[in-house]
Amino acid sequence: MDHKTYIAERIDIEGVTKDEIADSVAVPPDTTLGDYALPCFKFAKVLHKSPALIAESLAAGFKTDDVISSVSAVNGYLNFKINRKGLTGEIVPKILSEKSAYGSSDMGGGKTVCIDYSSVNIAKPFHIGHLSTTVLGGALYRIYNFLGYRAVGINHLGDYGTQFGKLISAYKRWGNREEVEKGGIHAINELYVRFNSEATEEMEAEARENFRLIESGDREANELFNWFKSLTLAYVEKIYDRLHIKFDSYLGESFYIDKIPSAVEALKEKGLLVESRGAQVVDLEPYNMPPFIVLRSDGASLYGTRDLAAALYRKQTYDFDKCLYVVAYQQNLHFSQLFKVIELMGEPWAKDLVHVAYGMVSLEDGAMSTRKGKVVWLEDVISRCVEKAKNILTEKNPDLENKDEVAEQVGVGAVVFGALYNNKIKDIVFSYDKALNFDGETSVYVQYTCARASSVLEKAAAAGAEAAMGDVEPNAQEFELIKALAAFPNTVKAAAEDYEPSYIARYAVDTAQKFNRFYIDCKIMQAESGALRSFRLALTRAALITLTNALTLLGIGVPEKM
Ligand code: ARG
Repeated sequence: MDHKTYIAERIDIEGVTKDEIADSVAVPPDTTLGDYALPCFKFAKVLHKSPALIAESLAAGFKTDDVISSVSAVNGYLNFKINRKGLTGEIVPKILSEKSAYGSSDMGGGKTVCIDYSSVNIAKPFHIGHLSTTVLGGALYRIYNFLGYRAVGINHLGDYGTQFGKLISAYKRWGNREEVEKGGIHAINELYVRFNSEATEEMEAEARENFRLIESGDREANELFNWFKSLTLAYVEKIYDRLHIKFDSYLGESFYIDKIPSAVEALKEKGLLVESRGAQVVDLEPYNMPPFIVLRSDGASLYGTRDLAAALYRKQTYDFDKCLYVVAYQQNLHFSQLFKVIELMGEPWAKDLVHVAYGMVSLEDGAMSTRKGKVVWLEDVISRCVEKAKNILTEKNPDLENKDEVAEQVGVGAVVFGALYNNKIKDIVFSYDKALNFDGETSVYVQYTCARASSVLEKAAAAGAEAAMGDVEPNAQEFELIKALAAFPNTVKAAAEDYEPSYIARYAVDTAQKFNRFYIDCKIMQAESGALRSFRLALTRAALITLTNALTLLGIGVPEKM
């Protein structure tokens, strides 16, 4: 049980629920008065008493114990102090024994969460705009697995549409096998861009015909299409590897084409399908939304139709408890419409569909724009960040072993962390310099802290000093760190509940700061006694484990030396 709940359980306020009390308990900015505080102002109305009096009478009635060692009433606040030794003796050994499992849980046992993320488009650039969906989705995937859910990672490939007819036309005109094989996705994308800038009426008609050939199962057209697809996937998979991203399914839009008729049939049966200017639509006017177009007048399906078929398929296949769509907020309307249509179909699980919307990422040195052909490829951002990381590492530590490996962890980490540090809905401007600042709120700061902890532990091992709990009453810096370590499991849970890996990113920075305060203020190897040294080593190891688990959940590597 977390402390807030623990405190709430022991306080009775008439007309106020335990949950409300727990929610009101906060960590005060200055912890000298207490580790937790309950402001009593909002209870004044219900109780017809002044906050100061309420605090005093609650304080008088509160029984301290092994967990809460003291209570005091100050200016309308009820301040609680935690039993330092008690918490320390509980948390530190727990972390040391659970290790990489510390923070995990089985709360998700038996539940399935589908996560649709990254969802790249075949033959199109994998650009900076895909960063957030990829790393947010990847983090949620790991977080849910960590909490005992069965997470199903789905890359809903954009592999259907007339653009592939265009690509075939372009390839047949200007392409050749060797060059495309060598140039991969870049070569394919160039062909596509060229087609769009040079296309005549006649070429457009030819492209439509080529698309029709793909659809009708023509062998040559499908061979070409599958080739483009495999080149794209080979390319993105290399980047997924660098970002530690995994999927369980790569079923893209084209997979759902033969599942559309039954979805349309279901809409018809429910009387939801109406004709509008030749198209088949679901009217969403009563919900203040434009109609959801199911079939165009030529009978072709749309992006939304494929999403509808995909949702039905996922429910049937995975029987999910939740299905998340990690997609930019530009598609807010699309998902509101989609979810409403499924609700109107009478599917009770419509409420389990969640659009996890996020903001835009741009670069400090130039906005990204796909249309002007000024695409910023994600791979280039990663490579540049890794290169810069390597320069910084070389400067700081010329003798560092495995410099390339560490630079990869630091550079990739900086890109990932850049996308995960802020509340996901915020637009962000990525700056290489800020992301690689060793003293900032950055992944490299956390990584450096971990390397510092590893180095202390290594030196201790060399000196034969062991980590052990002993009978130590932690001082202020030690206790601030211990409280932070104790907060990790709830941070992970909250991150899952709110779809906010940023909680874990912020937690990591905050905890690293607390570790560093402890490290600077408390001598570890030179501690006043052997017992104190052993205890501080145990605390150092516990901090390293917890920070490592936090970074790992975000998909960021932890170098032992930096
Ligand atoms: N490929 C789409 C795009 O780039 C994103 C797909 C998101 N997932 C989905 N089920 N609609 O915009």
